[in-house]
Amino acid sequence: MAFTAVYLFVLAIGLVSSTFASPWIQYPSDGLATMTHYDLPKDYIAACACTGDSTHYPTAALSQMAFGSSTAYGPACGRCFNLTLLNTFLSVPPFYPPTPKSIVVKVTDLCPLSTSGWCNATQEGPNAAGNYLNFDLAFPSDAIPDDFFPSNASYYGYTDFGVWNISYQSVNCTQWSGWNDASALGSVTNLGPESACCPSDPSGSSNDTCPSYSDHNGIAYKNRCITSNNSIVMVTPVVIGAFFDVHYVAVIPTVVLCFV
Ligand SMILES: *[C@@H]1O[C@H](CO)[C@@H](O)[C@H](O)[C@H]1NC(C)=O
Ligand SMILES: *[C@@H]1O[C@H](CO)[C@@H](O)[C@H](O)[C@H]1NC(C)=O
Ligand SMILES: *[C@@H]1O[C@H](CO)[C@@H](O)[C@H](O)[C@H]1NC(C)=O
Ligand SMILES: *[C@@H]1O[C@H](CO)[C@@H](O)[C@H](O)[C@H]1NC(C)=O
Ligand SMILES: *[C@@H]1O[C@H](CO)[C@@H](O)[C@H](O)[C@H]1NC(C)=O
Ligand SMILES: *[C@@H]1O[C@H](CO)[C@@H](O)[C@H](O)[C@H]1NC(C)=O
Ligand SMILES: *[C@@H]1O[C@H](CO)[C@@H](O)[C@H](O)[C@H]1NC(C)=O
Repeated sequence: MAFTAVYLFVLAIGLVSSTFASPWIQYPSDGLATMTHYDLPKDYIAACACTGDSTHYPTAALSQMAFGSSTAYGPACGRCFNLTLLNTFLSVPPFYPPTPKSIVVKVTDLCPLSTSGWCNATQEGPNAAGNYLNFDLAFPSDAIPDDFFPSNASYYGYTDFGVWNISYQSVNCTQWSGWNDASALGSVTNLGPESACCPSDPSGSSNDTCPSYSDHNGIAYKNRCITSNNSIVMVTPVVIGAFFDVHYVAVIPTVVLCFV
């Protein structure tokens, strides 16, 4: 009973929120961001379902609200960016690389929206470094030298700063090192176009850029719920039908309110 009430409430909010402007973060082609790194196994098929061979070259996940979907693919899939390390800011003092370091990545994955963490920016506010975008670099990777991230171990006592301020620049994917390897381009063929989308060189035009999977399938764009004890939890959106534009059911019985 309570569950039904919650569901109807969530559905009502979903219908209301659909009348507002797009929830996704619109960002300029060049700007500032943060960069973290994450483990992506070689040949792994990530959210966009780009071919496994894409992992043989530098790839990154982009924070959810800029990626443009809460699941599977979004408009960022396949886009290429030149990322330049600026400085660290969690270390004391901040570290500035002695020589400039840049890398061109292809976005193949989604960095899920979290309540804190570096991928938590929404239109309402940035992450803890004041940035709306976080690039989560697949690293370590055979495609990137192990010493890509500069460090000063003798001074700081560690080599991994974890998070960096960076600048990003949208670049033509002809600049990506995987461009000349046909097997690293495009999406896997065994999933079907409904769940895979990885353009070789998206221009932003609708004919060569992925739509938002979650918008297209009526899945919540945020997967945050407030529980009855007032804590915020992330839940996995579940599509339960195709009649209303937002279909979202919380699988946690204590959930009382979801932002959809
Ligand atoms: C990436 O940015 C750096 C720093 O601005 C620049 O030196 C480099 O040429 C750029 N690389 C590409 C491929 O655009
Ligand atoms: C993201 O998390 C930081 C704390 O890590 C917080 O200060 C910031 O307000 C959060 N941003 C959003 C949009 O929730
Ligand atoms: C880097 O991060 C710090 C701390 O969040 C911030 O104050 C600063 O403006 C950022 N940008 C640069 C270019 O240092
Ligand atoms: C490490 O940092 C210290 C203090 O800033 C500096 O004197 C030293 O030259 C640095 N070493 C390297 C290898 O960057
Ligand atoms: C990238 O460059 C190629 C070759 O110059 C061009 O055909 C293509 O339209 C460019 N892509 C974008 C997204 O601008
Ligand atoms: C996509 O549409 C643009 C015009 O909107 C056109 O210039 C371009 O050639 C089209 N690209 C493809 C791959 O059909
Ligand atoms: C609130 O409830 C969730 C599960 O519903 C639980 O994981 C969490 O620890 C609880 N938090 C507090 C502060 O009791």
